[in-house]
Amino acid sequence: MKLADNKATLSFSNGSPSVDLPVYHGSVGPDVVDIRKLYAQTGMFTYDPGFLSTAACQSAITYIDGDKGELLYRGYPIEQLATNCDYLETCHLLLYGELPNTDQKKDFVHRVTNHTMVNEQMQFFLRGFRRDAHPMAIMTGLVGALSAFYHDSTDINNPEHREIAAIRLIAKMPTLVAMAYKYTVGQPYMYPKNNLSYAGNFLHMMFATPCEEYKVNPVLERALDRIFILHADHEQNASTSTVRLCGSSGTNPFAAIAAGVACLWGPAHGGANEAALNMLGDIQKNGGVEKIGDFIKQVKDKNSGVKLMGFGHRVYKNYDPRAKLMQETCKEVLQEMGLENDPLFKLAMALEKIALEDDYFVSRKLYPNVDFYSGIVQRAIGIPVPLFTAIFALARTVGWIAQLNEMIGDPEYKIGRPRQLFTGSTPRDVKPMAQR
Ligand code: CMC
Repeated sequence: MKLADNKATLSFSNGSPSVDLPVYHGSVGPDVVDIRKLYAQTGMFTYDPGFLSTAACQSAITYIDGDKGELLYRGYPIEQLATNCDYLETCHLLLYGELPNTDQKKDFVHRVTNHTMVNEQMQFFLRGFRRDAHPMAIMTGLVGALSAFYHDSTDINNPEHREIAAIRLIAKMPTLVAMAYKYTVGQPYMYPKNNLSYAGNFLHMMFATPCEEYKVNPVLERALDRIFILHADHEQNASTSTVRLCGSSGTNPFAAIAAGVACLWGPAHGGANEAALNMLGDIQKNGGVEKIGDFIKQVKDKNSGVKLMGFGHRVYKNYDPRAKLMQETCKEVLQEMGLENDPLFKLAMALEKIALEDDYFVSRKLYPNVDFYSGIVQRAIGIPVPLFTAIFALARTVGWIAQLNEMIGDPEYKIGRPRQLFTGSTPRDVKPMAQR
């Protein structure tokens, strides 16, 4: 970051002396006012619950222009990455800053595929879960448990540990998600097959059984790879900020990523893909396209507590570029599966059209986000609805690690320790039980 020529001056109406605050430029996007010395200078904190105006860190990984609907990974537009690159190239880009050349790609793919198996003990750990456990409950446990299996990569301050932990997490997430699925359906776990692509191997571990030959469908493989690319990183969103805050205490990378998985689960974040598909299913059950008007009325009624899931975003005030790409993929997958007339897809398109013409959504700049169509694609691939958010977690793992490693390498990094505006009781004395 670069110090700007101008500075901000904060003045107070009660006559307290004003303070000058430095301003920094990034390479693109809003400038920031540096308030780090504000408390020392004034005895005051800033107040910004929900981080509406707060840059919590500097980062060179992902840039979003919410007004333009633009998403860049290390400067590359998401549309170009989704069209010209595969997921592991994207992982290399996010982790190391550059797209790999042929040799670097070969080496990276080799390093990742070398680590796709998980410790055999992991299946006994999994056995402790109920068969009907939500996959995200299982994933939170399994990812945290990796720290108990890989003691040689738990020191976050050691660059070699960070590197091997990064590779292990990227390599093992598909294995763990597929194991969580196989466990819930009571089928045998399928070991990874390292001659398959990253997405192809995942499809194999999910849908193959030891009884029959499984052939990876290249259209579904490419679609899944694109889902992974689109979800790989998204700057300082809730789960990434959780990973950074958790990792800032110096905890091990597996524990920090487990915290990210837990945060992602919520319906306002990664859980929205599952919630969006359930919402479409409910509308379909209650009358389908004909009933969209009634549903929209409910959404607009603040007392109903109903939201249009897969719509709206804190940063995008325009069409989420990932939603456009996902809609394309949706069409391709439905065609491949002979589901061109899929009623949920038709319903989603009709719902989107009506919402985009409605003043409630227009005035609030609410557009479809990545989760609006991703559930339809995943369902067509055969992924069960409760597993959707686990797929998101799998794909986002690289972003979480890239951000965590960037933080640890940042000379300005400190343990994250927000402050508060205290509104509770002032000091008082404990009364004996009889007088309370
Ligand atoms: N349906 C109906 N109204 C909405 C929606 C929605 N999906 N999203 C926002 N609004 C309204 C909201 O009620 C508020 O109205 P008002 O100004 O009258 O009070 C206004 O739009 C601004 O919304 P907000 O809640 O202040 O915005 P936020 O930035 O705090 O929340 C959000 C962003 C994504 C949590 C929210 O839009 C939402 O809950 N969307 C549905 C869940 C969803 O699809 N989440 C996935 C996000 S993208 C993938 C990811 O990050 O994991």
